[in-house]
Amino acid sequence: MSEPAIVIDVEGLTKRFGGKTVVDRFSMQVRRGQIYGFLGPNGSGKTTTIRMLCGLLTPDAGRGTCLGFDILTQSAQIKRQVGYMTQRFSLYEDLSIAENLDFIARVYGMDGRRRRVDEALERLGLASRRGQLAGTLSGGWKQRVALAACLLHEPKLLLLDEPTAGVDPSARREFWEHLHELAAGGMTVLVSTHYMDEAERCHALAYIAYGKLLTHGTVDEVVRGAGLATWSVEGEGLVALAGELRGRPGVDMVVPFGAALHVSGPDAGLLESSLAAARSRPGLRVERVPTGLEDVFIHLMKEGEPVSATPAPGS
Ligand SMILES: Nc1ncnc2c1ncn2[C@@H]1O[C@H](COP(=O)(O)OP(=O)(O)OP(=O)(O)O)[C@@H](O)[C@H]1O
Ligand SMILES: [Mg+2]
Repeated sequence: MSEPAIVIDVEGLTKRFGGKTVVDRFSMQVRRGQIYGFLGPNGSGKTTTIRMLCGLLTPDAGRGTCLGFDILTQSAQIKRQVGYMTQRFSLYEDLSIAENLDFIARVYGMDGRRRRVDEALERLGLASRRGQLAGTLSGGWKQRVALAACLLHEPKLLLLDEPTAGVDPSARREFWEHLHELAAGGMTVLVSTHYMDEAERCHALAYIAYGKLLTHGTVDEVVRGAGLATWSVEGEGLVALAGELRGRPGVDMVVPFGAALHVSGPDAGLLESSLAAARSRPGLRVERVPTGLEDVFIHLMKEGEPVSATPAPGS
């Protein structure tokens, strides 16, 4: 069967745990060859959604296909063509890199084990370290071995759940270079992350909070769609200024960004008037800056907060 152009196509996915709706009518379309970022605060339902996509968890409502197979009835076919890197994967620390991969290939009864292991090692630049014990690898190298393990059965879709959590920036950059090489070769990648630089490296992304999809699209579309104006304020006394600005008309959020404050809101005119006093204060520099993804996500997270913690009757 040829691979469909839309690799992930799901609609209305819903999952409840003990009466709590943790994924609420979630829909998503991911095209072949895309690197699709999946972002959202802790506990927002990313892992749960990924598990429903590959047939590890049955949704309570909703439907869709993954690689052209029905997520409700064809999970065995889906699993054969998906490489899933779980959020808390682990390697056998007292086996070498090559032994770890060979072990996985054996467990899954793969044919041509030697070739598969050699190719995966080569593909991720691990060949020269093949004999090194996994337990002696740095975090960045471990993630790379885990990615190699996901590729052994030559999947068409990678589901990567926070694959670079806790990894330093340069190792994360290398990991993303590999993802882009794979995508250029036709691989589709859905990757969850909490890192903004990684979000910006995605072809498209979705942001989920409290189980609900709040926005999706390219980085530009997501930023434009939020309709926020942002000013940056630098100088003395920013902590006190942040307190003053919060609650002023047009000020939706005030967030420290390095040595500056980012002040954002949907109404640029109103926000600018609220900043007038700060602008005239000596020692402060106030300038309009492009709204960034992080500004948008903080805004969305606030907007998406449930109004009340009490569940509605019947929910
Ligand atoms: N098997 C389960 N039983 C009960 N509740 C669960 C189960 N799995 C997940 N949850 C709950 O569902 C919600 C969503 O969890 P999920 O792990 O999908 O979030 P996440 O977006 O992946 O978070 P993180 O960024 O921390 O990994 C959380 O409130 C979590 O406690
Ligand atoms: Mg998770």
